[in-house]
Amino acid sequence: MALTDVAPIVTARLRHPDSHTLERYLATGGYAGLRRALRMEPEQVAEEVNAASLLGRGGAGFPAGRKWSMLRKAPVRYLVVNGDESEPATFKDHLLIERDPHGIIEGTLIAAYANQVAQAFIYVRGEFALGLERMQTALNEAYENGAVGRDIFGSGFSVDIVVHPGAGAYICGEETALLESLEGKRGFPRIKPPYFPAAIGLYGEPTIVNNTETMANLPWIIQHGGHAFAALGEGSSTGTRLFALSGHVRRPGNYELEMAKTTFRDLIFAPVLGGGIRGGRQLKAFIPGGASAPWFGPDKVDLPLDQDAVGKAGSMLGSGSVIVMDDQTCVVRAAWRIVRFFYRESCGQCTPCREGSGWVEKVVRRIEEGSGREEDLDLLLDMCDNISPGLSWPPQQTTICVLGPSIPSSIVWAIRMFRDEFLVHIKEGACPYG
Ligand SMILES: Cc1cc2nc3c(=O)[nH]c(=O)nc-3n(C[C@H](O)[C@H](O)[C@H](O)COP(=O)(O)O)c2cc1C
Ligand code: SF4
Repeated sequence: MALTDVAPIVTARLRHPDSHTLERYLATGGYAGLRRALRMEPEQVAEEVNAASLLGRGGAGFPAGRKWSMLRKAPVRYLVVNGDESEPATFKDHLLIERDPHGIIEGTLIAAYANQVAQAFIYVRGEFALGLERMQTALNEAYENGAVGRDIFGSGFSVDIVVHPGAGAYICGEETALLESLEGKRGFPRIKPPYFPAAIGLYGEPTIVNNTETMANLPWIIQHGGHAFAALGEGSSTGTRLFALSGHVRRPGNYELEMAKTTFRDLIFAPVLGGGIRGGRQLKAFIPGGASAPWFGPDKVDLPLDQDAVGKAGSMLGSGSVIVMDDQTCVVRAAWRIVRFFYRESCGQCTPCREGSGWVEKVVRRIEEGSGREEDLDLLLDMCDNISPGLSWPPQQTTICVLGPSIPSSIVWAIRMFRDEFLVHIKEGACPYG
């Protein structure tokens, strides 16, 4: 596949070093989408987003328009923008928060107007010190310029936005834990159903939760029309999307690419994107959608960056994080590091997640440290099967949230793809990579 030369949507103004300022935002068409939206009926705005088929960019890939329409049956009280972004190797919202905070605020205002919400929150990961500062400054500027608050741009529509710092745990990105955190409580995911905060959300009221990048697409969609957005990409994977590329590539970073028209090979190897595997090495494996996703081998590198195609191939695009491993990577150590993260971040409410992650972590660690036994591989698969029965994809869930079924992914796929490498660790009593 050749690279398409579609103009960027969410990173359009990032070439300017002062892209985070109101001055630059206004000079590059900022708040024109909001002004346009305010001249439309709220239902028309929602219809444009529906026509765009904009898939949520937070991980689950649920269409934003459909989520809103489910909620529009009940009067929505709150809109919450999820900028908690704490998964290892996911760093695309961080970029938008620091470099284009007004774009997120404008998207939030458009969504608030479409759903007639009077109070919105932008929940930014607490460790994003610069991002929080810039988001708060941008919000203050937006208030001063009449873009937020009472009677926005003389339209009669009013909405307040609060920037809220995240509580310092990965689990606070899970939308119901985030709501608990916003309410000032410990970030524990809520029991489901209800599956969406539509019915019982913030303070028990109907609430929309959307990802930061999802919001950042809205000004463009309103200015150019939902159909123009849907004309980009293919099938249900419309528009462009930010991919956070990390690992053993020459040029790691965030790349905004047209969905479905670009492949993993393009992303990893194109000289203007990842630039290929560093040090002239070979591709051993890659994770197509963040730490929770099943791994792919080089045979999958020609798959398009398409939600359905990646799903059919047995994994997910998830949070848009693509992690590349070269032929010198110890897959046992890589899988161990991922499961260690989930173990440390488990909130502890569910036994399979709390206990399972700890046991899996211990057994993978002993294999990596050279004290493993051959039966450990079956033991690991058995423990993973207790966390997510069947070890299938999409995974079965026995826990309150999907952090639980995320635990087996790296372990199960690493064993399935590289069983021999695990056995070498066990037989030699040491990691062959040192
Ligand atoms: C453990 C866990 C962590 C999550 N972290 C985030 C996050 O940092 N940002 C995010 O937008 N969604 C995160 N999600 C997904 C959210 O629950 C939710 O689906 C998303 O914010 C909805 O936005 P979207 O529909 O625009 O994608 C997480 C989910 C889980 C289970
Ligand atoms: S699956 Fe894990 S993180 Fe999610 S609620 Fe249960 S214990 Fe907490």
